[in-house]
Amino acid sequence: MSVKRLSSFHYLKNHCPSSISQDGKTEEFGSRDREKYVEEFNFPFCDDASKYERVAKIGQGTFGEVFKGKDKSNPKKYVAMKKVLMDNEKEGFPITALREIRILQLLEHVNVVHLIEICRTKAHSNNKSKFTFYLIFDFCEHDLAGLLSNVNVVFNLGEIKKILQQLLEGLWFIHRNNILHRDMKAANVLITKNGVLKLADFGLARAFSLPTKEGNRYTNRVVTLWYRPPELLLGDRNYGPPVDLWGAGCIMAEMWTRYPIMQGNTEQHQLNLISHLCGSITPEVWPGVEKFDLYKKMELPKGQRRKVIERLKHYVQNDAACDLLDKLLILDPSKRIDADTALDHDFFWLDPLPAEADLSKMLARHTQSMFEYLAPKRRAGHRAHHRQVPICSSNTKGIIDTGFHDRIF
Ligand SMILES: Nc1ncnc2c1ncn2[C@@H]1O[C@H](COP(=O)(O)OP(=O)(O)OP(=O)(O)O)[C@@H](O)[C@H]1O
Ligand SMILES: [Mg+2]
Repeated sequence: MSVKRLSSFHYLKNHCPSSISQDGKTEEFGSRDREKYVEEFNFPFCDDASKYERVAKIGQGTFGEVFKGKDKSNPKKYVAMKKVLMDNEKEGFPITALREIRILQLLEHVNVVHLIEICRTKAHSNNKSKFTFYLIFDFCEHDLAGLLSNVNVVFNLGEIKKILQQLLEGLWFIHRNNILHRDMKAANVLITKNGVLKLADFGLARAFSLPTKEGNRYTNRVVTLWYRPPELLLGDRNYGPPVDLWGAGCIMAEMWTRYPIMQGNTEQHQLNLISHLCGSITPEVWPGVEKFDLYKKMELPKGQRRKVIERLKHYVQNDAACDLLDKLLILDPSKRIDADTALDHDFFWLDPLPAEADLSKMLARHTQSMFEYLAPKRRAGHRAHHRQVPICSSNTKGIIDTGFHDRIF
């Protein structure tokens, strides 16, 4: 997809006669003329979404809906259509979607979801002359949250290694290209029927430069609460790739526990859960942590021992896996393992080798697509009664938050 396609959004903005001119005076175009102009407008590099037939809704995100679509010119070709939420059309095409598109254009890798093109529906009077834009992706049959919430899907150790190896390959690639994902969670990890993993949802992603002395000033209101690392919870704004590796650690544990391991209801609660699992947050284990704004403002549990391996070994039952988990869930981001080093870990080089796992064979036993959206029981508050209590639980003080939609800019 060329950059030219993107420029068509700006084309309309610059060429559509607006009722207010640059010097603030009203122009001669009336609202009816304007509507007609918009109705007849053809984006030069943006196809009509009607080339795809919407088959089913498969996702409902913070920023819009996602549908499975069929290419009318090639009925064997399925796509995912992510609708761009135009909540404030006066400000034009949303900057968050523009950022997602720009980043996806940069990232071409087997373990990153492939953006095919941007499409739009025509504006007409019964949709109040609004265009709807869709990001069109290669379709993946499942997301990891959907797979993990289905008890009939059983992964053996080799298959788990294969998934985690691909996840880390994807992270290694995006980090090498100076992109942070900033929303790692099982629902944002897609798996094709052939067992190829694709990192998805770059709606919160951004380019980064290495943490500097002067300090970058990135927002820390990113990453779904349950997967949010301690540095973000403490207000760090000069963070880097380790934020995604923490999320990878949470996802890795989830491969065995089958549910998110730390389901906090508030930022304070999330920090409590982290401290109970990873030990107290102190300058001894994390030099410099005392400099964060929130270090003194939050109530950080004292005297907690680190219990990552102790708590997870019953589920994981593999020493190398426990060791890698322990290295991913390190409190101090500067000591947390990076994607490259994690890929060299014994976990991936001891039997059963990931290369020998055939995920496509296992997935072939399941003909239905599995997505988080189609498995609502996974969401907090809808959790099935038979589900086990998260490995980390503490008093929630009665505040309810699904943990899936805590995304604020
Ligand atoms: N290419 C794809 N193939 C199949 N399913 C997809 C694809 N892209 C997205 N989905 C499904 O749609 C869901 C929502 O998509 P995405 O995460 O990109 O949107 P979002 O609005 O940012 O979501 P959220 O706010 O919940 O994170 C995904 O969790 C996944 O289940
Ligand atoms: Mg998502």
